[in-house]
Amino acid sequence: MARPLPAFEAAEAPERPGELFVSWLLGALRAGVPDAQTMVLSTAGPDARVVVLREVDPAEGRWWFAGDAHSPKGRELAGDPRAALTFYWPALGRQVRVRGAVELGEPAGTAAAFRLLSPNSRIAALVGRQSEPLADPDEFSTAWANAAERLAADPDLVPEGYTRYAVRAAEVEFWQGAADRRHVRLHYRRTDSHGWRRELTWP
Ligand SMILES: Cc1cc2nc3c(=O)[nH]c(=O)nc-3n(C[C@H](O)[C@H](O)[C@H](O)COP(=O)(O)O)c2cc1C
Repeated sequence: MARPLPAFEAAEAPERPGELFVSWLLGALRAGVPDAQTMVLSTAGPDARVVVLREVDPAEGRWWFAGDAHSPKGRELAGDPRAALTFYWPALGRQVRVRGAVELGEPAGTAAAFRLLSPNSRIAALVGRQSEPLADPDEFSTAWANAAERLAADPDLVPEGYTRYAVRAAEVEFWQGAADRRHVRLHYRRTDSHGWRRELTWP
């Protein structure tokens, strides 16, 4: 943290955490943070892995990602639909933590989102078998070629397990690091009325 970092005026933060998140994400993208839109997804396993943030919905307070329902993370989420997301943008000394229940995207929207992915992303998803042992790399090459053929024959193909997940935030925390270690933390908690309560926490 021994570098110039932005100030964070927590008293001026917006009412909804999604709005503050979008402004921090845009700041990270402008600052050239590599892969700023990726995050650590933690599940109840316990387990954790990096995934891409696909969409943020500030009005609903939902953070979206996508993956295979048959993967370990998909199975964990089916068994215990709660997750935490962690973003860290080193150039700005900023961390955001999101916690909440996991919801599934509608099938029609999921299929439409899948068809917007690059051809190689779609082929990778069609190959599937994520996290299974791979005995022989040639098997992967053959599966890739088969998936590429299937996609060429049917460009609208969507793998059965492809799933959009949203974390409906119950809590969101913004952490602004400071060179002098006087870090600032702002915590949002969803209230029953769908509003948000904001409070500072000790760093
Ligand atoms: C930068 C980056 C982005 C990734 N994005 C995704 C993603 O959006 N969805 C996904 O399923 N896996 C993504 N992965 C791979 C996951 O980290 C993980 O290896 C994979 O999903 C298997 O996890 P699981 O065994 O816990 O299911 C990404 C990995 C990295 C490093």
